[in-house]
Amino acid sequence: MKKCVLVVGGAGYIGSHAAMALDAAGYDVLVFDNLSTGHAEFLRFGRFVEGDLADRAALDRVLTGGDIHAVMHFAAFINVGESTSDPGKYYRNNLASTLNLLEAVRDHGVDNFIFSSTCATYGTPLSLPLREDHPQNPINPYGRAKLAVEWMLRDFASAYGLRYCIMRYFNAAGAAPASLDARIGERHDPETHLIPLLLRAALRPGGEAEIFGTDYATRDGTCIRDYIHVCDLADAHVLAMERLAAGEPGTAFNLGNGRGFSVLELVGCVREVTGLPVRVRHSPRRPGDAEALIGDASRAVSELGWKPKFADLKAIVRSAYDWEKQLQSRTST
Ligand SMILES: NC(=O)c1ccc[n+]([C@@H]2O[C@H](COP(=O)([O-])OP(=O)(O)OC[C@H]3O[C@@H](n4cnc5c(N)ncnc54)[C@H](O)[C@@H]3O)[C@@H](O)[C@H]2O)c1
Repeated sequence: MKKCVLVVGGAGYIGSHAAMALDAAGYDVLVFDNLSTGHAEFLRFGRFVEGDLADRAALDRVLTGGDIHAVMHFAAFINVGESTSDPGKYYRNNLASTLNLLEAVRDHGVDNFIFSSTCATYGTPLSLPLREDHPQNPINPYGRAKLAVEWMLRDFASAYGLRYCIMRYFNAAGAAPASLDARIGERHDPETHLIPLLLRAALRPGGEAEIFGTDYATRDGTCIRDYIHVCDLADAHVLAMERLAAGEPGTAFNLGNGRGFSVLELVGCVREVTGLPVRVRHSPRRPGDAEALIGDASRAVSELGWKPKFADLKAIVRSAYDWEKQLQSRTST
């Protein structure tokens, strides 16, 4: 019999790709999502239960229904800027609702829990590339709520024996390759991530993307980020779950490519891949943006046997471009 994995937030960008990877790896996928920022049309792998993490009765129903082998928790609000202006929204949904989920998981005896954390838990880097043991001093409520969940997981592990893995993503990007016809990809509203914004600037008549800060102490003055393909993230989740199930102790993994690209280098890559001009407008720095974020993911490589398949930035941008063209053609008709 197939093992059932509950994918919380599986109607969203990264969760839907994890559902696809789990399905391909032979798991029975059960998605739980309130569709607040997710998309019904991304529910293409496994079964779906609509519900909110804040609703304990809904969680009890979904966890009672089947023999759940593991929970993967992707559900969260993700807009860092909004977390600064409306912190309560983030502490309620990303922290308090996760406590609700963890208590339900504990009460229903589910052992394995994989959590979507973020490089935003590190705050301003003291050294690069960031390793998992770098001090964690997040500089916004989004990162602080994620870090608090990390601590909750450790406390639930020592009190109740929960087995957990913490996955700290760098910048998730790209989409399932067009050849798979998965019809899932990056679709946030509002979109704040640079690759889709640059692609929209390229594809839309009169389009323009805003670049925040051109006076950083970097090679061209713009911020540097580490981009990791969403399918590689999804694969790492499956590997982490299997490692946990094999009895390995809970730990945290960075998921990035270990290479930093500046905003202007990314603009150049989008121009090259699309063959289109990309108009950009230079704006002042945004408060809270770190100058450079690059991750050292060697722990995931050595302990999980993880091998990113899309390590090349052009391959990441190409898959995002294919998705964005598909999305634009559907939303403009
Ligand atoms: N996108 C990135 O670059 C990135 C980077 C680091 C970490 N992360 C983390 O990865 C996770 C997924 O991000 P994403 O980009 O796929 O976001 P997303 O908004 O596309 O997906 C989040 C999903 O969770 C659901 N959801 C939110 N609150 C819920 C609730 N209370 N109950 C039930 N469902 C709920 C939404 O409807 C949506 O389907 C998040 O936890 C995010 O913090 C993302």
